Amino acid sequence: MKTIVITGATSGIGLALVKAYLSEGHQVFACGRNMASLDALAHTRLTPLSFDIGDKQAVLAACSQLPAIDIAILNAGSCEYIDDAKHFDSALFERVIHTNLIALGYCLEGLLPKLGKHSQLSLMGSSASYLPFSRAQAYGSSKAAVGYLARSLALDLKAHHIEVSVICPGFVKTPLTDKNDFAMPMLITSEEAAQYIYKGINKHKKEIHFPYKFTLLLKLLAMLPNWCWEKLAMRMST
Ligand SMILES: NC(=O)c1ccc[n+]([C@@H]2O[C@H](COP(=O)([O-])OP(=O)(O)OC[C@H]3O[C@@H](n4cnc5c(N)ncnc54)[C@H](OP(=O)(O)O)[C@@H]3O)[C@@H](O)[C@H]2O)c1
Repeated sequence: MKTIVITGATSGIGLALVKAYLSEGHQVFACGRNMASLDALAHTRLTPLSFDIGDKQAVLAACSQLPAIDIAILNAGSCEYIDDAKHFDSALFERVIHTNLIALGYCLEGLLPKLGKHSQLSLMGSSASYLPFSRAQAYGSSKAAVGYLARSLALDLKAHHIEVSVICPGFVKTPLTDKNDFAMPMLITSEEAAQYIYKGINKHKKEIHFPYKFTLLLKLLAMLPNWCWEKLAMRMST
């Protein structure tokens, strides 16, 4: 039995991950703010922890209660789009960067002392960071930074025998994407996403990306010259 901590565990991909790890017999510390879905699970191997990841003191206090952790999945995040780039909404930008990136720093400060030799740390990025998308200045920037953070951490935590991976999903049906007003090709369920992540972590993958047809297509498009992608992206956004 392993001890897992998952942030953003109250809905969508995080909640599906909680269920996947519980069903495999692991002990799960599940974090979020709205505890209703976790309380409803009422599982003996599940400990819900309620705190706002944007509140540094709350994060450090919650992490100090944790035992040694085998796997930490820092999944909590939010998404908002910038509708009018010419009138840049810096408050929105700050909100998204704070939740998706700065708060990750709080979680890392609190959790890394709990991660010992042969533990695994997985950060939730996004395949949206492979290419620049229209209206995604805040979300895409935050997730591109998460990708860099994971790869850079992997270098320095290797000496401590802590493996670091980044998770880059395509579109997953969750409360976050239910708000989207555009087509989401190759949309998968949060249960399918959780299985990709579960298997990816078990296989010690450095980058867990899925669904493969979608993420490989994005990786190929990212190899195009920028002018070529700009033309395509403009066509997609009109
Ligand atoms: N769905 C997709 O297509 C997709 C694709 C790529 C990447 N992702 C990433 O996957 C992660 C999970 O997203 P999801 O799609 O599963 O969305 P979701 O259902 O909205 O889940 C977001 C989770 O993050 C938590 N959270 C957000 N802000 C928080 C805060 N300030 N403090 C504590 N918890 C907070 C939420 O908890 P509370 O509601 O309880 O606060 C919730 O459990 C996000 O990082 C997202 O960017 C999603």
